[in-house]
Amino acid sequence: MAPALSDILRITSSLLVLMLLMFCMGAINLEAQVGNLAPDEVEALLEVATQLGKRGWNRNMKLCNNTKLPLKPDADNEVVCNCSFPGGTCHVVAIYLKRQDLNGSLPKAIEKLPHLKHLDLWANYLSGNIPPEWANTTLELLSIGVNRLTGKIPGYLGRITTLRSLNIQNNMFSGTVPPELGGLVNLENLTLSANYLTGELPQALTNLNGLKELRLSSNNFTGRIPDFIQRWKQLDTLEIQSGGFTGPIPSSISVLTSLTDLKISNLLGDGSDFPNLESIAGIKYLYLTWNMFTGPIPDWINERDARYGIDLSYNNFTSEAKYRETLNLFKSTWGGNYSKPVEFLIVCSE
Ligand SMILES: *[C@@H]1O[C@H](CO)[C@@H](O)[C@H](O)[C@H]1NC(C)=O
Ligand SMILES: *[C@@H]1O[C@H](CO)[C@@H](O)[C@H](O)[C@H]1NC(C)=O
Ligand SMILES: *[C@@H]1O[C@H](CO)[C@@H](O)[C@H](O)[C@H]1NC(C)=O
Ligand SMILES: *[C@@H]1O[C@H](CO)[C@@H](O)[C@H](O)[C@H]1NC(C)=O
Ligand SMILES: *[C@@H]1O[C@H](CO)[C@@H](O)[C@H](O)[C@H]1NC(C)=O
Ligand SMILES: *[C@@H]1O[C@H](CO)[C@@H](O)[C@H](O)[C@H]1NC(C)=O
Ligand SMILES: *[C@@H]1O[C@H](CO)[C@@H](O)[C@H](O)[C@H]1NC(C)=O
Ligand SMILES: *[C@@H]1O[C@H](CO)[C@@H](O)[C@H](O)[C@H]1NC(C)=O
Repeated sequence: MAPALSDILRITSSLLVLMLLMFCMGAINLEAQVGNLAPDEVEALLEVATQLGKRGWNRNMKLCNNTKLPLKPDADNEVVCNCSFPGGTCHVVAIYLKRQDLNGSLPKAIEKLPHLKHLDLWANYLSGNIPPEWANTTLELLSIGVNRLTGKIPGYLGRITTLRSLNIQNNMFSGTVPPELGGLVNLENLTLSANYLTGELPQALTNLNGLKELRLSSNNFTGRIPDFIQRWKQLDTLEIQSGGFTGPIPSSISVLTSLTDLKISNLLGDGSDFPNLESIAGIKYLYLTWNMFTGPIPDWINERDARYGIDLSYNNFTSEAKYRETLNLFKSTWGGNYSKPVEFLIVCSE
């Protein structure tokens, strides 16, 4: 018996529904395949989370927050993936976990993320030291500042030769700076401030001739600021406030004509003449306080654009310059007459 027309309609319509369903599922499948994080990197991320003491990640969630490139290191809590690999596979290229109250250690499983370029763990409570496994990474930006890291800066850190920016400030690193850091030839920004670093800066650091920003403040270094700073021709920012160094500032600093920010304070020793910085025309911030400078204040200071911040407070100049209006000479003294501090503040004059 031939099937009734209504039966044929019912069968074809359910077939259609089924086909539609299959198509939809296929489409969903397709979407899941494009932009899939490599499975071994899912496992690596979970290991990283365990080592950091990070809760909340599991293998069923979408661990990549963002696939937008190029990388922008301003995120606080983000895993960035690059999904432009053949077959649409995604690889982790950046981990930003700043201010996340993490109290574990620096994750050695980072080594299992071969495409990782940025790692920023700023302002957590991480302890321990830098794991040797990190020597095998190709990181370009590494920021582990403001944590509770201890021990010496390991020499193998110098093997991450891809590094362009390294920040370990505000930790409890001690001992000397290892000469191996001279191997970081692509380094542009280096910040070692606020640790317990001692000794002299190793000569090998002369190799860092792409350095643009160097910060060494609040440490216990010894000896003078090395003469080899003259090799860092690209340097635009140099901050050594309370670094532990003894004066004077080497005269070779005058060749660093790209400097815009120069902050050197609390040099130890018996006092020295004001450094020759006349050749550095582009300085915007010149803070040279508490250095016991004893010579005259050079006249060129007066010729600098008054918008530039110049702070020469707490020094022992021997003669008074015909200073410009916005020159901070607070508690700078001269002529051996220490009963007459010159109190002249930018804020007060406005
Ligand atoms: C990134 O994803 C994780 C896990 O899903 C989430 O906890 C976090 O809030 C996300 N971050 C942003 C900036 O969306
Ligand atoms: C993303 O991956 C593609 C393909 O390998 C590569 O060409 C590109 O440089 C990568 N971008 C970043 C920012 O990693
Ligand atoms: C981290 O904090 C959690 C709870 O706040 C605690 O249980 C754990 O012991 C802490 N880990 C370390 C290494 O201090
Ligand atoms: C680095 O990688 C090399 C080659 O894969 C391996 O032999 C070595 O053990 C790794 N080093 C560390 C510290 O993981
Ligand atoms: C170095 O620091 C400056 C200023 O903070 C920033 O603009 C620049 O992108 C940094 N360079 C690298 C390689 O991270
Ligand atoms: C660093 O030097 C200062 C001043 O000389 C001293 O008070 C401090 O104890 C030193 N700290 C360390 C960790 O050596
Ligand atoms: C600098 O001046 C202060 C008083 O303002 C004085 O105590 C100190 O001994 C002087 N130092 C030098 C090196 O002249
Ligand atoms: C030091 O300054 C005080 C106060 O301005 C002044 O009375 C005194 O004569 C000065 N002494 C010398 C030696 O210049």
